[in-house]
Amino acid sequence: MGIKRIMLLGAGGQVGQALRAETLPADWELGAYTHAECDITNHRAVQETIQKFRPDLVINSAAMTAVDKCETEQEQATAANFRGPANLAAQCSAIDAPLIHLSTDYVFDGTDGGKPYRADDKMNPVNFYGHTKMMGEEAIRHEHGWHVILRVSSVFGAYGTNLLTKMLQTIDTRDEIKSVTDQISGPTPSQDVAKTLIAITNAIMVGKTNGFGTFHLCGEPPATRLEFAQEIMKAYAPYTTRRPSILPALTSDFPGFAPRPPYSVLECSKIREIYGIAQKPWRDGLAEAMQILMQGRRQVA
Ligand SMILES: NC(=O)c1ccc[n+]([C@@H]2O[C@H](COP(=O)([O-])OP(=O)(O)OC[C@H]3O[C@@H](n4cnc5c(N)ncnc54)[C@H](OP(=O)(O)O)[C@@H]3O)[C@@H](O)[C@H]2O)c1
Repeated sequence: MGIKRIMLLGAGGQVGQALRAETLPADWELGAYTHAECDITNHRAVQETIQKFRPDLVINSAAMTAVDKCETEQEQATAANFRGPANLAAQCSAIDAPLIHLSTDYVFDGTDGGKPYRADDKMNPVNFYGHTKMMGEEAIRHEHGWHVILRVSSVFGAYGTNLLTKMLQTIDTRDEIKSVTDQISGPTPSQDVAKTLIAITNAIMVGKTNGFGTFHLCGEPPATRLEFAQEIMKAYAPYTTRRPSILPALTSDFPGFAPRPPYSVLECSKIREIYGIAQKPWRDGLAEAMQILMQGRRQVA
């Protein structure tokens, strides 16, 4: 095969930016579209973009990801996370282009007693974001056989707004930070998600036929939000004189937020067996992201 025409939607988000920051395979032509350039809820916009770019494969990293906002802006969340992916899958099916779609650990309720979730475990979301992402997954399965649904969790990195960049801002501005010990997940560097998307795309483009279906990817080991916050402080310490206290808290200390699954660690054996992609330590991804973010900043100690 010659040039592979790969279409990326949601290109302005953190995963979209991380993918564009990778050195892409020489035989790729990437058509990257931000929200403003192609709204996946707009049937005609998607149709025109597809007709113009003529993709061999489509990657969808577009979504409404603000979990609490999804609770209050349900129509917008349903459009972005359910109707948009459904529309996209139908249009990909019509042109026989495989679709790689990102989903989330929040499709699970997280009450499984500390057992990582397998890709075929029963979904049972506890918040509206998870509900819309589950419906998006189901619509894709219904519309298009050639799909890969890649569930990831607690994505962070050097690009966009995410758990890492928000924590750095909090360290800069607060003397006391409370972080919960009763939400556990596998933090996932956005660069690892990007590399995985590239590897899956390449495998499918050279004719891998057993690579469709639902897969999990997250960093290891599992961590509470508190542990993750403490590691961020450690990684940031050489660049700042700020030393806020980072204190343990419980989810119930923060009323008014959408419920979160208490334990949503993803079991990642399927992606290793089918694609040869192994889980990586998220601390390595944190170090890499910090290097990018702190470029040009002098160490203070
Ligand atoms: N972030 C996490 O911790 C996390 C965890 C698990 C799974 N995921 C999944 O990973 C994927 C990528 O997320 P991310 O972290 O990169 O999120 P992100 O940074 O919020 O990026 C999502 C992008 O999608 C765009 N978007 C929203 N609605 C759209 C629409 N109707 N049409 C086209 N683009 C639209 C957003 O643009 P605007 O900002 O302009 O709206 C944004 O640029 C999503 O499927 C998400 O559900 C993320």
